[in-house]
Parts: sequence; C-alpha cells; structure tokens
Amino acid sequence: MPAVRARKQGGTTVEPLVMLTAYSVRMAQILDPHCDMLLVGDSLGQVIYGLPSTVPVSLDMMCAHGAAVVRGSYHSLVVVDMPFGSYEGSPEQAFASAARILKETGAAAVKLEGGEAMATTIRFLVDRGIPVMGHVGLTPQAVNALGGYGARGRSEAERAKIVADSLAIAEAGCFSIVVEGVIEPIAIEITEKVACPIIGIGASAECDGQVLVVDDMLGMFDRVPRFVKRYDDLATRIGETVATYAAEVRDRSFPTADQVYRPKN
Ligand code: KIV
Ligand code: NA
Repeated sequence: MPAVRARKQGGTTVEPLVMLTAYSVRMAQILDPHCDMLLVGDSLGQVIYGLPSTVPVSLDMMCAHGAAVVRGSYHSLVVVDMPFGSYEGSPEQAFASAARILKETGAAAVKLEGGEAMATTIRFLVDRGIPVMGHVGLTPQAVNALGGYGARGRSEAERAKIVADSLAIAEAGCFSIVVEGVIEPIAIEITEKVACPIIGIGASAECDGQVLVVDDMLGMFDRVPRFVKRYDDLATRIGETVATYAAEVRDRSFPTADQVYRPKN
C-alpha cells in the first residue's frame, strides 16, 4: 500500500497504476507480471457464479477466491472486495470481516463501497492495521437503491456528493480509491482534489490508474458496459477451438498415436 500511495506525488501520478480483476490462481499468474494491483472483485458473483448482481456474494466466496489469487501473485498487490452485508452494520462487523479476509487469503488490503457514510468504518479499520481501498460513484452493491448501472454525477447534487464522498474516505485513510461509472469531469475533479491514487473504471484516462474486469476486457463475458474496451474475443476463440475438438472426437481423428499409450513390447 505505501508503494501504491507513493505513486501519486504532489497531486500527480507519472506512470498510471495498472489493475485488473482476478478470481483464480492461473489467471493471477498470467496477469501478475503486468499489473500493479489485482482485485478479487465481488464481480465474481456475475462473472464466475452467474448471479444477477453482486448482492448475493458471500464472505466464503471472497475468501476462497482471494486465497487462490494470492497463491498466483508474486509482485502485484492483491485487494479483496468486502461483499455486501459484511461491513455496513458497524465498524466492529467490518473489522471482523476484513480480518477474516486478510487471515484466510493472505491478501494485503480490502476494498469496500461507499462514501461519507463509511468514513468512520474506514478510519476504524485503518487504525487497526487494515489497508482499505475505497469505491465511489457507481457502487454496484447499491444497485437496489440506485436502480441500475447508469453513469453517476449528471446532476449538480450528485456531482457534489461524489466529490465529497471521495474526499471524506480519503481523509478517513483510504490508500487508494476506485471511481466507477461517473461522467468524466467528475473523475478529473476527484483525481485533482484527492491526495491518494484514483483508479478509474468508466471514468477518465486522467485518473491515476485504471481497472477493468478481466473477463470483460478479454471478451469472455456476454454483456459488458459501454466503458469496457474489448481487447480480445476469447469466447469466440474458445468456441472455435472446442468445435475442432468436438469434430475430431466425432470422426475419431483424436486421439492420435501421439496421445495413446502403447504396451512396452
Ligand atoms: O468487483 C469488481 O470487479 C470491482 C471493479 C469493477 C472495480 O469492484
Ligand atoms: Na466490486
């Protein structure tokens, strides 16, 4: 965390921070050399488990996937999302959940959603040795209250609230903050006003870093928000590869002599 925080000096970050989500050990190993941080996002609810939102995600799921990602990371800072319902009740509840995540996964930090309302809790965790990354703007765990995944900050009141939320949680001790799904001027304003690194997703290239859901940017997930750039189309490539395998099984051209064991004389 000190290394991440130190990347922003005097309000500017020379080399933007690179972050992707990861949910499994092999993917963590592949992403690790290229990233500064890996996020075990509660997006695993939709991406891995086919759930309708992140709301049903459990602490058990986050711990299991967090531990897998830590086993595959040697260089990146691993951050694990605190799932909905595991931290909002009280600072004590948040501490118990965050401590469990750090103890069971070996990750170095947790991330939680919310602004001013979570500032006391963030301060409570940070004072007790738990590094916290914040998350403001479009906060998917609040989908039932926000009523959808549209961009935030289009009204002056919303803009002011998102900026105030960011300043409040930075003041409370966050080492970095994810800003998701806000109109670009707000992302720029927050990046300028907040001292810790601001990691954007659906935000602005002027943020101090970027994060994406890895399955989205690889073209593995079927529905993606407009702010996702698809760097590949792995779903199509996997489909084509598996079609080749299926055809070879059906016409008995697989396995060949290379793949079968022969008796020794
Ligand atoms: O759960 C997640 O993947 C996230 C990122 C999109 C920031 O919170
Ligand atoms: Na998340």
